[in-house]
Amino acid sequence: MSEGPTDPHRPRVHLAPRRGWLNDPNGFVRWNGRYHLFFQHHPSRPLWGPPEWAHVVSDDLAHWTPLPPALTPEMPPADPDGCWSGSTTIMNGRPVVHYTGVRDGEQATCRAEPLDDGLVRWRKSRDNPIAVAPTDAPISYGAYRDPFVWQEPDGWRMIVGTSLDGRGAALHYASDDGRAWRLLGPLVDDDAMPTARGQGRIWECPLLLRRDGADDAPDLLIYGAWNQGALVHVSGMTGRYDGQRFVPGAVHRIDHGDHGFYAPQVIRDGDRWLMIGWIQEQRSDEALLEAGWAGVLSLPREVRIGADGLRYAFPPELAGLRGREVRIDAACPADREVRLPIEGRHLELRLRVERRGARQLALDLLRTRDGRERTRLVLDWESDAVATEKDRASRDPRATPARHVASSVGLDAVAEVHAYVDGSVLEVIVGGRTALSTRAYPIGADATGVVATAIGGAAEVTGSAWPVQGPVMRSGRDGIDGPH
Ligand code: FRU
Repeated sequence: MSEGPTDPHRPRVHLAPRRGWLNDPNGFVRWNGRYHLFFQHHPSRPLWGPPEWAHVVSDDLAHWTPLPPALTPEMPPADPDGCWSGSTTIMNGRPVVHYTGVRDGEQATCRAEPLDDGLVRWRKSRDNPIAVAPTDAPISYGAYRDPFVWQEPDGWRMIVGTSLDGRGAALHYASDDGRAWRLLGPLVDDDAMPTARGQGRIWECPLLLRRDGADDAPDLLIYGAWNQGALVHVSGMTGRYDGQRFVPGAVHRIDHGDHGFYAPQVIRDGDRWLMIGWIQEQRSDEALLEAGWAGVLSLPREVRIGADGLRYAFPPELAGLRGREVRIDAACPADREVRLPIEGRHLELRLRVERRGARQLALDLLRTRDGRERTRLVLDWESDAVATEKDRASRDPRATPARHVASSVGLDAVAEVHAYVDGSVLEVIVGGRTALSTRAYPIGADATGVVATAIGGAAEVTGSAWPVQGPVMRSGRDGIDGPH
């Protein structure tokens, strides 16, 4: 097993399980000044299995301390097939978790409350499940999961991800006391749905972010668009919520690394939104079994929601992960490789890429000396696109060589690129508008190079780069798993 610090694909500044399987982040909440984050964890095998809610806590969004799992399938009242995804809501001054309890294959909404102020020990409600799938709705795939609860001036609301007649949807509930829920119906009327392709057959992990009263920003409905056999992507629908219905406007792609970034959690933190998602593996089960771990959580992102889409930035707190700064100042003549003066598998790059006649700028990361392995980020001014090309990312045939493209990105002649390379994880924000997360698994010991190539004309690359330092999990004990 290539577990531990010698595993070159293990991230340092992203959270990953020391062993076992990780998927969705859950129940993200700020409580008593600390960030509590939970995630789907199947500790005994690096493949999906009945999940528990693992728990980590942070003061600075950069370093995390593991706590014991908050919810496990073993805790009574039993949901033996797993404690699936859900959310945390402050209700009457206390955090309350709503999650999906699964029993005999049936998905239902359950509730749990902390027994102490540090949120270390949790108790499932004796009334679980508190809501079950309505028998008179045309639910497909048995999908009834991932409750999200929030407060409106006239009471509580909940949405639950589902599939109605084979189409992704969210069921919408209201409650006066936060305990007895009545079904209002689908959150979005079928005839109001934008016709944009890719809405998915199931909506997983829906979130409704209410705009700030202060500005005229829209509300945002986020959901994972699931299609048969594959997790596809996360969409964000801007629109207006009137307390009864969500009236959609435009649909936006939240992250362009398809099959990469999924099931995000978002919280309001002062005057910013913070988003954390799951970045999936892109290698075979056999490779996962050999590694012993699977799945990482994205870095937090600050999100701004505007009528014309979303804006992203890595939060300033992450600067605490930086090592010594290296200045980058590279003139790139047409069609010539320029090696940048920074190396490593764990890097932050903050670059300003200026077009000086080039059609494209290719930035190779995790690149071996001989160039046989490289993960390529392409800024394509000619077709106004940003892409990651992974046809040569790894010589291991068990790694998926996908290509991800974001089109119509509004690429500026001077493009700002903010990227983290972290073992096998790549997260990029271009122009504050386009986010792209993906995975790459080079096997060359020297897959540490960063090389820029201006194609079809010249370009200039300036800015800063840093090695980033981990581990971000503060624990001498059992790693992220916490005590069992
Ligand atoms: C999304 C998801 C959720 C579900 C959880 C189970 O990745 O399928 O809909 O609650 O994972 O682990």
